[in-house]
Amino acid sequence: MDNKPVILNHPLIQHKLSFLRDKNTGAKEFREMIAEIAMLMCYEGTRDLGMEEIEVETPIARTHTKVIAGRKLAAVPILRAGLGMVDGILNLIPAAKVGHIGIYRDPETFRPVEYYCKLPADIQERDVILLDPMLATGGSAIDAVNLIKERGVTSIKFMCIIAAPEGLRALITAHPDVRIYCAALDEKLDEHNYIVPGLGDAGDRIFGTK
Ligand code: PRP
Ligand code: URA
Repeated sequence: MDNKPVILNHPLIQHKLSFLRDKNTGAKEFREMIAEIAMLMCYEGTRDLGMEEIEVETPIARTHTKVIAGRKLAAVPILRAGLGMVDGILNLIPAAKVGHIGIYRDPETFRPVEYYCKLPADIQERDVILLDPMLATGGSAIDAVNLIKERGVTSIKFMCIIAAPEGLRALITAHPDVRIYCAALDEKLDEHNYIVPGLGDAGDRIFGTK
């Protein structure tokens, strides 16, 4: 399978991303923009959904037309910041079930620490879209994918807004079967493993905690 990350450089996504990066953007606008970007990413990232033909009757004639078919979807945000992307996905796929994985980065070691995992009971029958705006070292995403795979899931897409090259490499190495979508591939990580230029701490900016 071609596992090259997909960089979604649609002008609407890039325009909104510029506002996210701006440190003067407040929590309300930041939240709205994260949800809008997630919706646009969902639109782009679901081009490969299976379809089947059905027959309907228009007011004029009977015709063959297409609807989405195949496996159902689950959206799984990595708490906290991934929560900001959920509404954008549900706006387009209201029937998706939502699971939650709680992981934070230890501030000293930068290693991921899991504290919560609640996934739909039938998740192994679903295609999963894993959500987190930031892919930095990759530790959180790798652990989240491990948790989802342990439940028998075989089809996972990871959608992030900004990725660092280090995290991208780590995630591709650990999970070559996971299709990665991002809006931007940034330059590098700094000495605190923050993405440069990035947008700062996504969770704090969404929830106004700093
Ligand atoms: C952030 C972000 C990712 C993680 C990325 O979460 O939302 O989950 O860091 O870093 P990594 O790729 O190096 O693992 P954070 O740990 O700040 O938790 P929060 O969302 O609860 O603030
Ligand atoms: N988590 C964030 O929220 N931002 C970063 O730049 C890195 C990890």
